[in-house]
Amino acid sequence: MKHSSLPPGACVYKPVPQFEHHLEQELNGAFERWGPLYYSPEAGAAGSVFWFENAWFNPLRIEFDSIGEAAKALVDIQRNWAPCLFTQFRRGALISKKLPPISVKKHPFPWLVPKAPMGAWTLLDPNTLIASAACSSPFPGGLIEFEEDKSGPPSRAYLKLWEALTLSRKWPAPGESCFDAGASPGGWTWALAKLGAKVNACDRAPLEAGVAAMPGVGFIKHDAFTLKPEDIGPIDWLCSDVICYPPRLYEWIEKWLASGLCKNFVCTIKMQGALADHETTRRFAAISGSRVVHLYHNKHELTWLKVA
Ligand SMILES: C[S@@+](CC[C@H](N)C(=O)[O-])C[C@H]1O[C@@H](n2cnc3c(N)ncnc32)[C@H](O)[C@@H]1O
Repeated sequence: MKHSSLPPGACVYKPVPQFEHHLEQELNGAFERWGPLYYSPEAGAAGSVFWFENAWFNPLRIEFDSIGEAAKALVDIQRNWAPCLFTQFRRGALISKKLPPISVKKHPFPWLVPKAPMGAWTLLDPNTLIASAACSSPFPGGLIEFEEDKSGPPSRAYLKLWEALTLSRKWPAPGESCFDAGASPGGWTWALAKLGAKVNACDRAPLEAGVAAMPGVGFIKHDAFTLKPEDIGPIDWLCSDVICYPPRLYEWIEKWLASGLCKNFVCTIKMQGALADHETTRRFAAISGSRVVHLYHNKHELTWLKVA
């Protein structure tokens, strides 16, 4: 068996289905395709690449002879490994069978993600394994499914807020104050109110009546962006799922950061039309203590997280 490191800073990206072209633009042509995966040998790409379901940092290339040898090579590194096969399916399944099981069940919310790292691996040919012990996502393959509530929330948008908070390993505590911009019909407001938070929801359209009647929920019919932080006052969480051009959201967030009036942020950066706004995405990602991710529950959008 032979282990070899790929160049320092190299990364394998599992793209977001249907948005591979955004990842290709971010990688600026400097990639190799391994089936659906993108291998980028260039260090430094990681901080400016966001359109992926999972990134495999510092991947290893392992040449092996037997299935047992391949499984041992992985288990010797750590316990948790999620496969991502695009060829050698039978051989890959046999290796998987020899690895400790990983849970693929649906999760409740809130759920504290275990801290044990989740690795990823694939096969390039019958004797070559690519594996990374350190992935961007703590979820197997970057995917997470929740036990959905089919009757309470008026839209499925709450799933992306649940995912963002799960990823942050933090969520509003009972009594904490939230401002929910672009709140209607009320999926996010429902999720926040269910946690016992006080929610000031804001939208130009009304909230669904059942959500508006939940304890702790207030509503302002207004353009969120014409409200200054000082108009709203100190809050624990600013959530925004407003449909708008990304620079409009960025300008508003800059005001909030300058005001120091909010501790935590979860904001959807919604791409308008077919293009991705890479420039504004990078500006969000450059905000100290924050990050930009593509959630499994995001569509043509990214999520900016700044959680204290
Ligand atoms: C994707 S929906 C939000 C879904 C919501 N988060 C939920 O969970 O049900 C986007 C919302 O943004 C609202 N919106 C668009 N521009 C806005 C603005 N300038 N101020 C406030 N709300 C706005 C729309 O009316 C719409 O209800």
